[in-house]
Amino acid sequence: MSRSTLTQLRAMKSKQEKIAVLTAYDASFSHLLEQAGVDVILVGDSLGMVIQGQESTLPVSVDDMVYHTANVARGSEQAFIIADMPFMSYANANQAISNAARLMAEGGAQMVKLEGGTVIVDTMTQLTERGIPVCAHLGLLPQSVHRLGGYRVQGKTEDTARQLLDDAVSLQQAGADMLVLECVPADVAGRITEALTIPVIGIGAGADCDGQVLVLYDMLGLTPGKRPRFSHDFLADTGGVPAAIAQYVQQVKSGDFPGPEQQY
Ligand code: KIV
Repeated sequence: MSRSTLTQLRAMKSKQEKIAVLTAYDASFSHLLEQAGVDVILVGDSLGMVIQGQESTLPVSVDDMVYHTANVARGSEQAFIIADMPFMSYANANQAISNAARLMAEGGAQMVKLEGGTVIVDTMTQLTERGIPVCAHLGLLPQSVHRLGGYRVQGKTEDTARQLLDDAVSLQQAGADMLVLECVPADVAGRITEALTIPVIGIGAGADCDGQVLVLYDMLGLTPGKRPRFSHDFLADTGGVPAAIAQYVQQVKSGDFPGPEQQY
């Protein structure tokens, strides 16, 4: 069985079929996610917090990401796999190319994800011109948490919303094949999704994105502390892990998730 392709994900956007994405970090969950109909598995650097118990994603290394991506790849056959490039692993284009190559060749990722706007446009061009598919990540950038002063909603003013739209267009022009928008008001995310031809996946960005992503441990209610407002405990609703994941997929596909209570 072959893996889903970018062409299929692009076709889902044009047919307005919602794309269901979840994070995973190991083979067992990767298998479960695929069985439940998840289209894309993101090996997020959120593993720093939910697997390693770190305070942020900053301590995650490229070796960590390669290890977890390879585990996820071994657990699934069909899902499209995206691997996060960790903090400062793409500070310049050459470093980005060699680290992305490791995530793809050793880890088995089909795409890598980078956080940032204008500052990564040149790196985006360098990666995509070498045939490396890249997902951009705008809005709340967890790798910049100390600069942002916390995990806050981004793009709330007309100026910052315009900046997000301009960044999204520049990244698409530089070759980005997908965009994750995190913690952005729903109307701003809707405008960006409409303006772009590439799939836009939201997390805390409202129901008008082309797809949704959540951190697996948040949507199973396993993450210690307060769950982010944009997430939902599907395990509490269903009482079983496979059923919780299947309900998430079904609600993303039907447009029922996220509801108004999970949006900004
Ligand atoms: O690391 C991660 O899990 C992510 C999601 C929050 C989109 O980047």
